[in-house]
Amino acid sequence: MFLPVFFFLSILISPTLANTLSDFCVADLSLPNGPSGYPCKDPKRVTADDFVSSALAVPGGNTRNIYKSTINDINNEQFPGLNGMGISMLRGDLEAGGVSPLHTHRVSELLVIEEGTIFAGFIDTNNTAYYKTLNKRDMMIIPPTLLHFFINVGSTPALTYSFFPSDNHGVQIDGFALFGGNLPSKLLNNITLLDHAEVQRLKKLFGGTN
Ligand SMILES: *[C@@H]1O[C@H](CO)[C@@H](O)[C@H](O)[C@H]1NC(C)=O
Ligand SMILES: *[C@@H]1O[C@H](CO)[C@@H](O)[C@H](O)[C@H]1NC(C)=O
Repeated sequence: MFLPVFFFLSILISPTLANTLSDFCVADLSLPNGPSGYPCKDPKRVTADDFVSSALAVPGGNTRNIYKSTINDINNEQFPGLNGMGISMLRGDLEAGGVSPLHTHRVSELLVIEEGTIFAGFIDTNNTAYYKTLNKRDMMIIPPTLLHFFINVGSTPALTYSFFPSDNHGVQIDGFALFGGNLPSKLLNNITLLDHAEVQRLKKLFGGTN
């Protein structure tokens, strides 16, 4: 009786223990980031403050922008204690009518509605869209890497939290990726089928060059 229970527990526990040689790896932000995160800060210099953050208390910026929304990304850079922990999050603030525009992350996202009413959706690789209106405390899971969006369809500001199984989930917003960077306008005509005038308008709107 005792043995199987112990055996079962050890199966549950051992992957974490087996995969790590130390309890924590607070990011040393003075060294370069790599595929498995930042190098660890010297454990002798780690304090309780390294495991605590108040970053969630404030929006990521103001919502006076084209999308009437802002995100406060909290990954291993903003919160070095997350480094190596396989988890990160973000806070989303959306005015009434505000939009979190079409974007992707490297990993799955668990969206939680803290305040407001959010119309949320994603599009799978078969081009099928899944969308739903979410209310306070509702959750939605967005599969890894798929395009998704959120819209505040309520009449009051919305507050959302998103959790990610990665120290640094990465955010790529399609509008900025296409029109906010250095992709040449001519190339954008080809790959989006938008005409020259529309490409120029979007380049200006998103602040792109070329
Ligand atoms: C893919 O989408 C089409 C409709 O566009 C649908 O008929 C088909 O069942 C979908 N396949 C899967 C695997 O979801
Ligand atoms: C883009 O399309 C134009 C014509 O529509 C063509 O002349 C040009 O070669 C294309 N550019 C690339 C990089 O394929």
